[in-house]
Amino acid sequence: MLMSYFFLSIFPVSSGQDRVKQSSGEMPESEGAQVILMCNYTTTSLSPDLFWYKQLPNRSPTFILNQYTTEPDFKYSATLNSTLRTFPLMIKNLLVSDSAVYYCALSKSAKYISE
Ligand SMILES: *[C@@H]1O[C@H](CO)[C@@H](O)[C@H](O)[C@H]1NC(C)=O
Ligand SMILES: *[C@@H]1O[C@H](CO)[C@@H](O)[C@H](O)[C@H]1NC(C)=O
Repeated sequence: MLMSYFFLSIFPVSSGQDRVKQSSGEMPESEGAQVILMCNYTTTSLSPDLFWYKQLPNRSPTFILNQYTTEPDFKYSATLNSTLRTFPLMIKNLLVSDSAVYYCALSKSAKYISE
């Protein structure tokens, strides 16, 4: 099988005291592989909403999922761990079309802001 290589780029997003920390940079991956993009966050919110977005070159970011997305999806999955404060995105069966910038984003829940 011919393996082609490409890159996933991930960058941090933050606002104020709430921030997400990703291992930024570029990750070379092979087609068909499975990758986990880590997202660590800190927040003052007791009930933050976590999201993953994907941005293709010259496009706007598009929503992939949040922690409430429960439909089984072969391609993407992420489980919020509020103890470790992590929201790692697993991407299965990588294709060249998965080469993109992935953003982990955090939003305070309107109902439970603690400050
Ligand atoms: C994110 O959290 C995990 C689990 O606690 C830890 O192993 C990892 O080093 C952290 N990564 C960053 C970038 O802080
Ligand atoms: C969060 O991570 C800890 C340490 O790995 C684990 O014990 C716990 O079960 C995890 N919680 C969830 C909700 O996955």
